[in-house]
Amino acid sequence: MELSTPLILVNLKTYTESLGERAVKLAKIAAGVSKETGVCIGLVPQFTDIHRVASSTEVPLFAQHIDPVQPGRGTSAILAEAVIEAGAIGTLLNHSERQIRLVDLEASLVRATEVGLKTCICSNNQAVSSAAAALGPDFIAVEPPELIGTGIPVSKTKPEVVTATVETIRKINPKVIPLCGAGISTGEDVAAALQLGTYGVLLASGVTKAKDPEKVLMDMATHAAK
Ligand code: G3P
Repeated sequence: MELSTPLILVNLKTYTESLGERAVKLAKIAAGVSKETGVCIGLVPQFTDIHRVASSTEVPLFAQHIDPVQPGRGTSAILAEAVIEAGAIGTLLNHSERQIRLVDLEASLVRATEVGLKTCICSNNQAVSSAAAALGPDFIAVEPPELIGTGIPVSKTKPEVVTATVETIRKINPKVIPLCGAGISTGEDVAAALQLGTYGVLLASGVTKAKDPEKVLMDMATHAAK
């Protein structure tokens, strides 16, 4: 359950390939690869699958989002305490597919920190990375939106975006751990991300839609372990 770097964080988004029992299957695969390689692999399942996956494996789980609400009258909101009860140890915030206003980002980060959730702010550009670093999450994952879901890896096609974010974080808040994502699909993509100064990757389709997710995760973890 402990998070460590290099980190491979797999976002299951709303892909049906990794929903319900298929999320559990993927988590068991991730746990096996983690054990064999010593590389931390976390999953980011649908909210409705967090408990199911947490009950069957020891894989670190992140929620895809939380809302900046207190317990009580908040029908339909995602409560920080609820994702912890379900078995998550962290949460993404401001994913490109779930962007939030800065004021809500800050409030959500405060709520997550209050309850002890790890936080990974997703950033779509340099300005957002700067603001995110100032807020002080545990991780920032820079992901150029135009590469998300394309299989074209940010670490090879836009290395300057990754290095700029790494540099920004170093200047503004060196305690924050930089990750990158978008199009990461192979072990070489992961190795390139680490060479650029990140401590891991946030990815989705390269694993969730793979014919053989175990082979892909093993390739990624083996390269990360080097
Ligand atoms: O959260 C991960 C992400 O947005 C990247 O998606 O499918 O390009 O790995 P993908």
